[in-house]
Amino acid sequence: MVLKTFARGVAFSAAAVLTTAFIQAQAPAARLTIHADQPVSQVSPTLYGLMTEEINFSYDGGLYAEMVRNRTFRGDWTGILNWMQVENGNARATMAADEKTSPSDALKTSLRIDVKQADAQNQAGVLNEGYWGMGLQANTTYKGSFYAKADSGALGAVTVSLVNDASGKVVATAVVPAISTAWKQYEFSLKTGAIEASAANHLAITVGHAGTLWLDLVSLFPPTYHDRANGNRTDLMEKLAALHPAFLRFPGGNYLEGNHIDERYEWKKTIGPQVDRPTHPSPWGYQSSDGLGLLEFLEWCEDLKMQPVLAVYAGYSLSQEHVNPGHDLEPYVQDALDELEYVTGGADTKWGATRARDGHPRPFKLTYVEIGNEDNFDKSGSYDGRYAQFYKAIKARYPELQLIATMPVKGLRPDMIDDHYYVRATKFYEDATHYDKTDRNGPKIFVGEWATKEGSPTANFDAALGDAAWMTGLERNSDIVVMAAYAPLLVNVNPGGMQWAPDLIGYDALRSYGSPSYYAQVIFASHLGDQMPGSKVEGAGDRFFYSITRDSAKKRLYLKLVNSSSEPQPVEIEFTGAKLAATGTLISLSAKNIQATNTMEQPAAIVPVKTALHGVNSHLRHTMPGYSIQLIQVDEQ
Ligand code: AHR
Repeated sequence: MVLKTFARGVAFSAAAVLTTAFIQAQAPAARLTIHADQPVSQVSPTLYGLMTEEINFSYDGGLYAEMVRNRTFRGDWTGILNWMQVENGNARATMAADEKTSPSDALKTSLRIDVKQADAQNQAGVLNEGYWGMGLQANTTYKGSFYAKADSGALGAVTVSLVNDASGKVVATAVVPAISTAWKQYEFSLKTGAIEASAANHLAITVGHAGTLWLDLVSLFPPTYHDRANGNRTDLMEKLAALHPAFLRFPGGNYLEGNHIDERYEWKKTIGPQVDRPTHPSPWGYQSSDGLGLLEFLEWCEDLKMQPVLAVYAGYSLSQEHVNPGHDLEPYVQDALDELEYVTGGADTKWGATRARDGHPRPFKLTYVEIGNEDNFDKSGSYDGRYAQFYKAIKARYPELQLIATMPVKGLRPDMIDDHYYVRATKFYEDATHYDKTDRNGPKIFVGEWATKEGSPTANFDAALGDAAWMTGLERNSDIVVMAAYAPLLVNVNPGGMQWAPDLIGYDALRSYGSPSYYAQVIFASHLGDQMPGSKVEGAGDRFFYSITRDSAKKRLYLKLVNSSSEPQPVEIEFTGAKLAATGTLISLSAKNIQATNTMEQPAAIVPVKTALHGVNSHLRHTMPGYSIQLIQVDEQ
């Protein structure tokens, strides 16, 4: 297959080139008229962004590049999760969680390894299985560290190795010469040679003498995006960059709320040195390391040039627990004010100084703050009072901030309302006009979570069609719908990795791929434009959707066309108000059936195909294949 690079991290297949001519039209032609010189509204520059939370192993075991799973030694009745004993040859050792000693107040547990018998050839210790393995590439340096102490100097050196699961072969090794009897952090580097890239590897930490070793916060990172220490996976960041996101909504979602109030996202416990982060339970059934904490979210924004849309905890957690507005809510409001100061304050403020201490003296720009998440689920009806209390306190100190409500509020008018949609494709077809009649004088709209629920673990082509139809409606109404984000974004496709389907991007420890819905979004978001020229369509079937935008600086028109019927859809396109270049560009995403999808094994089964479109003038006859999402780009002369 021939692959053309269209955008960083996005492959376009030229093998299945679709021309406008060779398919025999079956449906009657639709007539689409476009008045290039008559803008009817503006397109929101922030329309497309990202929404994420810790779900589906999105950060731990996903974007956050840490390779060691359960690096702070949590256990359950079965023992310490994801860690196993190593007893090579006649070496003998036991391992157990130790709650009596650890390198910080935040970490309550360490791992105690009692080595009864070991020598240089027969080492004993522990291994970590990673997040369904550890992805290793050839000739690559992996940087690691751990906190450790020993019962005496007799324990000697610690050997750290990357080992192939199947062959047992050591593919990289390093030695930490001696361990002190007080807690201390040790660093090491592991460099692979000419190995075959694979996810079937683990990390072993062993010693060659009898004695006791304690370990905590064992960490290992591959090279990361922008070479950030404690950073993100490059392949996933490149896929996100290709979505041209204008913003990042974080940290949730349900992850913000937690199942219980004491399991909420407590931002203060996610900043500073990793050893001072206690970790916390995510409502999606596993513990979050909080290695990707508040500052890392903000740096992720910086790396992809996104603006943060910061959701603050607003006193409601998922098990119908809420904090009463008034006195009880005050500490939570103060926590949000402190958070805003951490994000935006100068280094001369208390929390701005903390951010500077954490390595980022420059304040971040912040425009949007969301108060809570899906508070329509709070049966107590307390959101009116909770929102008002946050709103007044935040506006008093930060009048310029736009405050998003998660549902309509009585008594005051929010700056913006966050709407969520998880529906089947047919529902999005019916609802593509949802915002056409929305009151333009009301609050602005943020569609903070949306997805067509078709496909698992990642969205299939049916979902891509539903998504594309829905996006035409979002674009057409982006004078009022100023931001929108698909959710969930990420899924680790290993067994047990997924809590919610479908998702946009799938991965394991080594590889990743975009779903058809991902490519539909790449197409839409890479061709946004800033104006919506006047247009109308006549004679189209009920499975034809479109959006026309114009880039006024480039003098370029973007026609986004969706044919979600199985039959070809001929379209007679009339352009007025501009003389057009004779040759444009056609980008086509299509499939033979709606269940078709991409997988780890076939990541490029459905990818956009880019071709030249000849014969453009004031009139273009174009035929869309059945089940297709297309972008026509034409320049004005
Ligand atoms: O995206 C998955 C979940 O859906 C989010 O956490 C929540 O906000 C919504 O109900």
